[in-house]
Amino acid sequence: MFPKAGVLSVVMVLSLTGSALYAADTSESSSHEAQRMRWFKEAKFGMFIHWGPYSYLAGEWNGLKIPVGTEAEWIMQRFNIPVAEYRQMARQLNPVHFDAAGWVQLAKATGMKYLIFTAKHHDGFAMYHSTVSRYNIVDWTQFKRDPVQELSTACRSQGLRFGVYYSHREDWDDPDGFGNTWDYKRSQKNFERYLEQKSKPQLRELLTRYGLISVVWFDRGMDTVEHANEFRDLVRSLQPSCLINGRIGSYGQDLIGDYQDMSDNGISTDGLQEYWEAPQTLNTTWGYSKFDQQWKTPGDVIHRLVEIVGKGGNYLLNIGPMADGTIPPESVRTLEQVGERMRVNGESIYGTSASPLPPQAWGRITVKGSKLYLHVFSWPADDKLPLTGLTNKVLAAYPLANPGTKLEISQVHRTYTIAVPAVRRQPNDSVFVAELDGAPHVDPPVVVQGTETPFELDTMQAVTGGKAAKRFNRQGKLHIAKWTGPSDFAAWHILVSQKGNYQIRIRYSALPESEATKYVVAIGGRTIAAFIKPTGDAFDYKTFDLGQMTFTKTGPYLVKIAPSSETGHDLMFFQSLELVPEGPLMVD
Ligand code: GLC
Repeated sequence: MFPKAGVLSVVMVLSLTGSALYAADTSESSSHEAQRMRWFKEAKFGMFIHWGPYSYLAGEWNGLKIPVGTEAEWIMQRFNIPVAEYRQMARQLNPVHFDAAGWVQLAKATGMKYLIFTAKHHDGFAMYHSTVSRYNIVDWTQFKRDPVQELSTACRSQGLRFGVYYSHREDWDDPDGFGNTWDYKRSQKNFERYLEQKSKPQLRELLTRYGLISVVWFDRGMDTVEHANEFRDLVRSLQPSCLINGRIGSYGQDLIGDYQDMSDNGISTDGLQEYWEAPQTLNTTWGYSKFDQQWKTPGDVIHRLVEIVGKGGNYLLNIGPMADGTIPPESVRTLEQVGERMRVNGESIYGTSASPLPPQAWGRITVKGSKLYLHVFSWPADDKLPLTGLTNKVLAAYPLANPGTKLEISQVHRTYTIAVPAVRRQPNDSVFVAELDGAPHVDPPVVVQGTETPFELDTMQAVTGGKAAKRFNRQGKLHIAKWTGPSDFAAWHILVSQKGNYQIRIRYSALPESEATKYVVAIGGRTIAAFIKPTGDAFDYKTFDLGQMTFTKTGPYLVKIAPSSETGHDLMFFQSLELVPEGPLMVD
């Protein structure tokens, strides 16, 4: 945020109603995309499974221990375990307690709708019967069973979507794969050979041998757009309905897959206008560690789920089974308790979307159609749930678990209050339904109250239209992208309460293809035309001066940015527009 300057007082008001300016769900713009995403949008909650030879080491090798709080599946790399030695260890894998139907049953009982399994992690070992490399669980160990086969079958028969995690770039076993510099000289690596002889052929096997694969979950993305596109095209050509996560490409690229993944254990700070997923651990590691007992409680899991879903995301929660196939009992206990809550509250999670109302002191909100689900995490001392900002009528309110109990609703101006006395509290998350007279509408979506600072109109405060969408990149930054023509825009309403000169500055990143593309910043009736200057890469944000504008009158202004013609490519990755007062300012 900006330093206080004490010269300008700008209040954000949104006089236009949200519906006039709000972008429709832009991800629905292409129907193929919408078809592919449908189940994902409905599902909300999935199980991630990290399981491989690293589970056998369980966080310890030759007396060296993986510190709690770091990833146990990285043990080969952390201790530079020689390939020959790791391979010997991998031979011991014999998961006699592996029970695909039982694992899937647990996911299902927890309320999860999809499952993503590590078919190959960075250590290069295939957890399925690969014919590309004998370094796989069937040919390399005495186990002789194919977990991808068994899990995909179990998912199909129990009605869960099945997906594979595949480490496409990183491979510490293959001399040409990325990452192992302790056995193999970097200068002698031929990365293309690894891609052509192992990575792509294995992906092809996974997409042709096991029926429908609903997601390929890539990790540690390719360094070049070209490589990422090759993998995307391969998936599309073999299974057009299969989803691809954002980690197919690197941190320095815009989204190449179907949806974005947050950083590990990250949660978006706000509602985004793209599909996203939060991959999270149940303790602090993905692969099993015998040392890590920092378990999240069922309450933690439920609160995270609601927080994520209330911002429009999916929660992909990991378990790390032990080498013998046993799921740590602490994980099982927690998931079972989460499942009990989901059986009661599932309606408030599945198929819901982000709440237009912000997080509340008492909890979080999810939305479906004309229903708001009020998730109470901290019971209010006065037994009242205030709701401020809705323009709708609240027609009725009741506990989700007991629709027969009608709750008293009162209204003062834009604040509704739902009284929840004597209602039986549910553990961790008591859910109430507020039935509205239509889809929830919040007006004004007030973003910034009166301040005395120079003004920063940022991504989250913007109202977007057309294809322009608020998005996330894996470096944890938010930006507006996807705008390619004049009907795609970002807008803000501001109330200028002191007239005078303002310097206008814009902050964005842009790719070389956008060089010299014209765009327009309109403020009130006036416009500033400008041309894009490319920055280093998609996430190298820079600030550019657009010149001065004089506000001769105080009052409300509409500020709007849009490409000035059809460009055929993304205009820029926008972060903010600054209005910085210059010289003396006056009130009317
Ligand atoms: C990180 C870890 C990787 C794990 C992944 C899951 O990228 O390095 O081991 O598989 O997170 O999100």
